[in-house]
Amino acid sequence: METKQKDAGTPILVTGGAGFIGSNFVLEWLAAGKGPVVNLDKLTYAGNHENLVTVEESPAYTFIHGDICDAALVKGLLEKHRPRAVVHFAAESHVDRSIHGPEAFLRTNIDGTFTLLQAARAYFGSLTGEERDGFRFLHVSTDEVYGTLEPEDPAFHEETPYAPNSPYAASKAASDHLVRAWVHTYGLPAMITNCSNNYGPYQFPEKLIPLMIANARKGKPLPVYGDGQQVRDWLYVTDHCRALMTVLERGQVGETYNVGGGNQRSNLEVVTTLCALLDELSPESPLKPHKQLITYVADRPGHDRRYAIDARKLEGELGWRAQESFETGLRKTVEWYLANTAWVGSVTSGAYQQWVKQNYGTREGIAAEETR
Ligand code: NAD
Ligand code: TYD
Repeated sequence: METKQKDAGTPILVTGGAGFIGSNFVLEWLAAGKGPVVNLDKLTYAGNHENLVTVEESPAYTFIHGDICDAALVKGLLEKHRPRAVVHFAAESHVDRSIHGPEAFLRTNIDGTFTLLQAARAYFGSLTGEERDGFRFLHVSTDEVYGTLEPEDPAFHEETPYAPNSPYAASKAASDHLVRAWVHTYGLPAMITNCSNNYGPYQFPEKLIPLMIANARKGKPLPVYGDGQQVRDWLYVTDHCRALMTVLERGQVGETYNVGGGNQRSNLEVVTTLCALLDELSPESPLKPHKQLITYVADRPGHDRRYAIDARKLEGELGWRAQESFETGLRKTVEWYLANTAWVGSVTSGAYQQWVKQNYGTREGIAAEETR
């Protein structure tokens, strides 16, 4: 189903633009006046068109409700809208869900990327002149393809060998390899970005930060997996979106760029910082101190211990810099969730409760001393 006409100017085609990072990207792109956007999204449990309510009526925005695995749909969209770029976000993105049900991950992340690449290749083959020179395919990927780091290991760089450990990471690694092969074999002008953990507005409350905020607000346990000493390298979502725009504008075809903010934190540090922010920003809350809600639960199978990103290539060659520190970004994020309780309510009804039961119902709470 397609709604609305496109505005004048050459559009980009975004996939998965109703998800967390995709919707932030679409909003940033339109606010910056970079031209029209065509958004193809299947609206899975993770896609929420409410995220884009402020641009819904904009003549520069077109929404297509559909699946990236639908080859005829994707082909038709490229031929009709003639985008200057494809920015590919659409994916199944949650590690815990990939452990419970990997099939959807293989379908969307691998088959879907394959379908998109084939369609983009045919479309690119039909272009000439400036349209052909300017066309780009930007594949949005993750640092999880590199596997896990020991505490003293250097951060992941673009030459780090792939060693994915979860079904999610393996499916993203496969999709990266497909993109690489389509550049090398067919000359598709594609680029890949591998980014660290994002956080910020519109993140679905199955991921660590929004889940902890949502649970804390309700006085529910804050389920820390294992010993809580796993390290992630956090990046505010808007900084990621700006990095993607930078790569789209100035990146070299065939190159990979790692994206990260240099904010390594253990999960326990993240959760205790969140609790302190909630104490400060909701001083009347009877749940204070929120850290009393922290509960250690059984670990995630195959849990990667540490991720860290070396973003010097993106910074040095393309001049990108993260603008938010972890402290400023986290504060903005908590403030956003406190101001948008209706959004949280609307995405945590129905199927979400099923997921909570499936993922947490079988995780026995474990005493803190057992994790040390
Ligand atoms: P998300 O789960 O919030 O959103 C995914 C979006 O894709 C949803 O809108 C969903 O409806 C859509 N989608 C899923 N399957 C589809 C299909 N078959 N056809 C069309 N649309 C489909 O994900 P996110 O966190 O916004 O991540 C976006 C991309 O960025 C993913 O490719 C992910 O691997 C990558 N990434 C995410 C992070 C992170 O921390 N969230 C970090 C690095 C990279
Ligand atoms: P998550 O947000 O799922 O991102 P990823 O697995 O892609 O890094 O999880 C971030 C970290 O937080 C990860 O080490 C797992 C941990 N975690 C918990 O401890 N409890 C939770 O309830 C969740 C969802 C994650």
